Amino acid sequence: MPDKIRVAVIGAGALANRVHYPSLRAMPDVEIVALCDLVESKCQSTGDAFGISRRYTDYRRMLDAEKADAVYVLMPPYHLFDITMDVIERGLHVFIEKPPAVTTFQAESLALKAASKGVRTMVGFNRRFIPLMRQVRAMVESQGPINHCVSVFYKAMPEALYYRGAIDYLHCDAIHAVDALRWMGGAVDEVASVMGHFGWTRENACHAVVKFASGGTGVLMTNWATGGRVHTFEMHAQGISAFIDPDREARIYTPESPQGRVITTQESAGTDEWHVYYGFFGENRHFIDCLKEGKEPETNFTEAARSMRLVDDLYAAAA
Ligand SMILES: NC(=O)c1ccc[n+]([C@@H]2O[C@H](COP(=O)([O-])OP(=O)(O)OC[C@H]3O[C@@H](n4cnc5c(N)ncnc54)[C@H](O)[C@@H]3O)[C@@H](O)[C@H]2O)c1
Repeated sequence: MPDKIRVAVIGAGALANRVHYPSLRAMPDVEIVALCDLVESKCQSTGDAFGISRRYTDYRRMLDAEKADAVYVLMPPYHLFDITMDVIERGLHVFIEKPPAVTTFQAESLALKAASKGVRTMVGFNRRFIPLMRQVRAMVESQGPINHCVSVFYKAMPEALYYRGAIDYLHCDAIHAVDALRWMGGAVDEVASVMGHFGWTRENACHAVVKFASGGTGVLMTNWATGGRVHTFEMHAQGISAFIDPDREARIYTPESPQGRVITTQESAGTDEWHVYYGFFGENRHFIDCLKEGKEPETNFTEAARSMRLVDDLYAAAA
């Protein structure tokens, strides 16, 4: 890989403008060579905002014309599959947002195709890259293996319709909590779950207990029929317990610190910029570093498909 990674970006939407373009723009070893969006005005405004002069409304034309090392595909899951396949088939490395697909089968197809072409892949499961989450996990694991962890994700959105019903809330959004549970506890051996449909005809809650291959246990609590957004985590090992709210702070209890040591999320990240302390800059940095060092990204397509598969298992266990 060259010292400077040449990136082309497909999608100039809200999240992309808020977190991915600023993260890539800030990296001296990345050049955003071109961008593409179906909507001409979005091409122009994002191009102007981030100083990207080469702009396209047809991504195939962009891929053929530009010499990119890697491509970002940043759009809703029901648009992702064909575009991501086209990128992989051209032998280009690829970063996509979560969820990686509408179905697990699609996610696995993308992973298999990427493996056959030898390209690096990554899905933006940013919770794993939140500096506070990584710092706390290292602190807990320094005392011993995680024997119990908890992932909580609540929202006040009982009619959990994503993209007019193209995908369910658990595969689309609460998958952040599912993926983080796997990141904390490792491979899952057994699943018990209950689905809820509170004030709505379709599933908008899932509560589950899992047993990890390590012997530890994990608890998942997701509910879209609550009072508001709460997204928190717990990690426990013998002699240490951490309660983490990555929007704010973590409190870590040990026998020496029974009142709990507090670390704020901004303190951990060294900044109060949201896209940095909430893990978006870190995931982008990780992808670029993996390309430069020839390493497999932590949240590659195979790994992301495992989180999709666990969501399938949560539904199946509740049936
Ligand atoms: N990690 C997180 O916490 C988080 C948060 C919000 C959203 N997301 C994910 O990120 C995805 C992208 O978010 P966003 O806010 O940037 O999306 P968005 O819907 O605002 O923008 C998507 C853009 O893609 C463009 N597009 C669609 N099809 C295209 C095509 N064939 N060629 C070129 N452009 C095309 C659209 O015109 C649009 O501008 C979301 O769908 C969601 O899955 C993740």
